[in-house]
Amino acid sequence: MKTTTPTVPTPDDAAVWHEGRLYLADQRILPERAEFLSYDRADAVADAIRAMVVRGAPAIGVAAAYGVVLAGRSAFASAGSDWKTAIEADLERLAASRPTAVNLFWAIRRMRALIEQLDTTDPTERLLREAIAIHDEDRAANRRLGDLGAELIEGPTEVITHCNAGAAATGGYGTALGVVRSAYAAGKITRVYADETRPWMQGSRLTAWELMHDGIPVTLQADGAAASLMATGGVGWVIVGSDRIAANGDVANKIGTYGLAVMAKYHGIKFMVAAPTSTIDMEVASGAEIPIEERDPEELLSCGGRRLAPEGCVARNPVFDVTPASLVDAIVTEKGVVLDPTPEKMCELMR
Ligand code: MRU
Repeated sequence: MKTTTPTVPTPDDAAVWHEGRLYLADQRILPERAEFLSYDRADAVADAIRAMVVRGAPAIGVAAAYGVVLAGRSAFASAGSDWKTAIEADLERLAASRPTAVNLFWAIRRMRALIEQLDTTDPTERLLREAIAIHDEDRAANRRLGDLGAELIEGPTEVITHCNAGAAATGGYGTALGVVRSAYAAGKITRVYADETRPWMQGSRLTAWELMHDGIPVTLQADGAAASLMATGGVGWVIVGSDRIAANGDVANKIGTYGLAVMAKYHGIKFMVAAPTSTIDMEVASGAEIPIEERDPEELLSCGGRRLAPEGCVARNPVFDVTPASLVDAIVTEKGVVLDPTPEKMCELMR
């Protein structure tokens, strides 16, 4: 935990709790500016998740857990011993912030389970301890799955990643970039190709920033450049994170991931999904049941305040897609690795 007031965020600082406030690194403006925004109300945290101040499935879960702490503190301040009724509206606001990343619902469910056990006295300290545990456990899970994923890689090789599944997207270290960090340290990865990831540019703005921060060789490429790179033969793995993995091993992740998996199969390149088990949703049988967020088409029609498409142009902006389990070579979690996922293997992992 930070002992001084947080000022300039590093990649590991997506969410920082300090002296009763939640600090979120503003991921909309990185890397041009590295600034924290600070929060003392749960409804503002919900707005921050919706607006992409904090993004990436595990980081959204961590932020929501701290949001529940703020909600509990406000509910006790306004309703005293009746705080469990008063907290409900904020829990619902947090849950309504984004639909696809299951870590959000997982974290709120875990905080709710604690709320049910608490008495009518001030819940703030107990809620905070649980939120910190969620944060710490995510960081530890990423270290573990990073090492497990690295073991699968026979290096030296180059890899492609999509979006940002790094420290900035998690409680720390990263999922896909956790594997990259561990594999690079083991001398197995020579270069990471980061897809820029239209339209929010998480690849250019966050993945390139994180990897350069760690001195890991990274080359940025347009999303459409991945196939021709694969054809050159130097890439051994595509490594991505996930927002929700279904009980049959289908994987929801940033839009464009499905296309990468199809291309990887065609070129004989391995496809790895790295995610903590908090990303696995055994309540959805297949990817077809995963709600896919559609964001404002304006995100595509303009860029940096400049209009790109003709006035009146129709656009669609689904921000995630589903990669079928049949295209996934490995799902890597902190509890173990599932090769060629099937419903039976997923069940065994989550037992
Ligand atoms: O829209 P975003 O930036 O929240 O999407 C993030 C992703 O798609 C990540 O790949 C995923 O959340 C895994 S993060 C470890």
